[in-house]
Amino acid sequence: MAAASAAGSAVVAFKSAGVSHRRFANFRQLSSPVKLPASINLQCRSLSSVSPSGIKAQVATVEQASTEAAQIVEAPVVVVTGASRGIGKAVALALGKAGCKVLVNYARSSKEAEEVCKEIEASGGQALTFGGDVSKEADVNSMMKAAIEAWGTVDVLINNAGITRDGLLMRMKMSQWQEVIDLNLTGVFLCTQAAAKIMMKKKKGRIINITSVVGLVGNVGQANYSAAKAGVIGLTKTVAKEYSSRNITVNAVAPGFIASDMTAKLGGDFEKKILEAIPLGRYGQPEEVAGLIEFLALNPAAAYITGQVLTIDGGMVM
Ligand SMILES: NC(=O)c1ccc[n+]([C@@H]2O[C@H](COP(=O)([O-])OP(=O)(O)OC[C@H]3O[C@@H](n4cnc5c(N)ncnc54)[C@H](OP(=O)(O)O)[C@@H]3O)[C@@H](O)[C@H]2O)c1
Repeated sequence: MAAASAAGSAVVAFKSAGVSHRRFANFRQLSSPVKLPASINLQCRSLSSVSPSGIKAQVATVEQASTEAAQIVEAPVVVVTGASRGIGKAVALALGKAGCKVLVNYARSSKEAEEVCKEIEASGGQALTFGGDVSKEADVNSMMKAAIEAWGTVDVLINNAGITRDGLLMRMKMSQWQEVIDLNLTGVFLCTQAAAKIMMKKKKGRIINITSVVGLVGNVGQANYSAAKAGVIGLTKTVAKEYSSRNITVNAVAPGFIASDMTAKLGGDFEKKILEAIPLGRYGQPEEVAGLIEFLALNPAAAYITGQVLTIDGGMVM
């Protein structure tokens, strides 16, 4: 709580950008091989050689074709792991408000997950909750099955679920190590493998893995967490290479300190030190991370980005 309120006081209130359903229309059109109706290509090529009235007629044809294309567009199906709280919740809400069909995964917080669903539905989107531990293969398979049964496919996977079990190396118990590796790394592997099976058949998909700046530079007391997050970066780059020919992009987002339950555990003095190390002098907000993820998940311009790690950390690591 302390972290969240400290960050909140230093932050200019974040307002999520206005969203329009046109965004996912772009996603569908551009993430699949772009096949414009023949009439559009023809009109573009011959535009300079026609009379003004001819241009008007052609614009009408283009508009009509665009409308027809928009009508057959379907909302992307998105799976967000750990979407009941924090960054995952902000991501689910942003994508839901952008018109996606969102599977809201959680481990324990069923009430919070239901609230996320209700908020998405209230904004006109579709959502369902799925309680399951994404470090378990059976749960992951059931989760993907639930998305398929509800909406027929998975277009976007956001591997967000994560935990910390901090402690200095000398005192770190095997259980602390294993729990973090199991969820933060093996969970990403399991979900990615399951989603890629679906996406590769369609030759289309976007996978976004939430790593951390700690996976890039390490952090005292987080041998387990930084190892898992560094592993996610290696996994991201490898899967990006393996699936590029299937038109599946795979990227990692590396947040710095973001106001959430995870950072709320940090103590006063420690937090002061952290804030001093952040050039922008504040924690990030979950909605800011969600904005970057929404871009990578839906924006046509992101179709040419793969295998990258994008840091969002107020300038902490540069
Ligand atoms: N906050 C930061 O400063 C920060 C910085 C860098 C990276 N990150 C990364 O960003 C991601 C989200 O962090 P956050 O701060 O938003 O965390 P958070 O507020 O603690 O939320 C964690 C989410 O993960 C879910 N979860 C936990 N164990 C799970 C499991 N076994 N299976 C499925 N879901 C599970 C939780 O569900 P329940 O509510 O049901 O427990 C919750 O929805 C994590 O990967 C984290 O490592 C965070």
